[in-house]
Amino acid sequence: MDAHISQEDWVGRAHKVLPAGGFGNFDPNYVIREGQGIYVWDENGKKYIDFLIGSGPMVLGHGHPEVLEVVQEQVAKGMTFFANNARGIELAEEICDTMACADQLRYVSTGGEADMYAIRLARAYTGRDKILKFEGGYHGMSAESLMSLAPDILQNFPLAVPDSAGIPEAVRDNMLIAPFNDADFMRQLIAEYADQIAAVIVEPLQRLIPPAPGFLEALREETEKHGIVLIFDEVVTGFRLAYGGAQEKYGVTPDLCTLGKVIGGGFPLAAIAGKEPIMAHFDKVKVGKEGFTFQVGTLSGNPVAAAAGLKTLEILRRPGQYETFRSNGQFIIDSLKRHLSGAGIDHQVVGDPTLFDVVFSPQAVTDYRGTMRGNTDIAKSFNQKLRDEGLFKSDGKWYPSIPLSEEDLQMTDAAIATAAAHIAR
Ligand SMILES: Cc1ncc(COP(=O)(O)O)c(C=O)c1O
Repeated sequence: MDAHISQEDWVGRAHKVLPAGGFGNFDPNYVIREGQGIYVWDENGKKYIDFLIGSGPMVLGHGHPEVLEVVQEQVAKGMTFFANNARGIELAEEICDTMACADQLRYVSTGGEADMYAIRLARAYTGRDKILKFEGGYHGMSAESLMSLAPDILQNFPLAVPDSAGIPEAVRDNMLIAPFNDADFMRQLIAEYADQIAAVIVEPLQRLIPPAPGFLEALREETEKHGIVLIFDEVVTGFRLAYGGAQEKYGVTPDLCTLGKVIGGGFPLAAIAGKEPIMAHFDKVKVGKEGFTFQVGTLSGNPVAAAAGLKTLEILRRPGQYETFRSNGQFIIDSLKRHLSGAGIDHQVVGDPTLFDVVFSPQAVTDYRGTMRGNTDIAKSFNQKLRDEGLFKSDGKWYPSIPLSEEDLQMTDAAIATAAAHIAR
């Protein structure tokens, strides 16, 4: 048992074997021992209400008894096969029934991979190379996705800025960057490069920023007009904004979407889903060697992940789940607005009740540059105080969840009040 090893000791050990002391995700000064329901405990035994929920997947909380049951059943029957399996096929059926764009899907293990393959598939389908991406849009860690993800230095559009070392210069030449929510700019850019653009990839709700009325519709219209593949990155919005994702909520159907997080029920599973003529490029028999997009992965369609995802989706389909999900989030949004306004702090709560955060700025936020105008020092101090008060929340966003009880919400409200008073000092 590790019970006698303190969190501080774990942090010290991690620094010896892990670059930057961590796995590259959350603040490495926290080492999580356990999650049960909507709580997590760190290695010092401190209990938190979990507003990170594994960066999104655990909308039903940790160790949901029905999910655990199917997972244990599957684990006993085999953990991975590198072959078709019934749970994976059933999950694919459910996703294709639900997501408006999905005739077919292909599994991968992470959302970032799904985005990388969606881009490649669009290039295979169109025979074009350029990709239009929105500044600040997050699509995982491929070379294309790391262009103008979080630039400090703002360039003139449509010039791409790499956010990582190690990306060949040539990648930049094939990227076009546009501001989110600016339909006029997008239209002009597409008109200029139409016959060279393979795909437009977009988070329909970009990070936290909702689409302006008509923006996604304009994107659909322009891409359709020019034979450009429209990719909705629904890794975070899928089965969260609504059961049918952002495409259901906003009523705009892309050509391809990428999914992850919720569909794996807490296990590594993601997918590229979309229209059959495009998905056909994963099938050499249909498209021949020239159009074939090579795709294979050891854990793709993993049966444990598929079983967990299938049960998670079944539970999400039950009456009242999304109402609870949204009202829990709305409670927190209202609490944030009340306490921050009460403390006289300039702020915007940006997002949807199922994922949101505060940007400490007096101005409305409609794109990445608007987010950048937020005061990050205040945000850091506010978020640290929330964690000290027992809310496990990142500096990125609030992820509410379904199992939050009235008592959890009241504790959250009290923590927000304390954190607002802390930054008002
Ligand atoms: C919109 C979006 N796309 C892609 C990804 C990458 O997914 P993964 O971390 O599974 O690679 C994420 C992860 O947060 C995401 O939010």
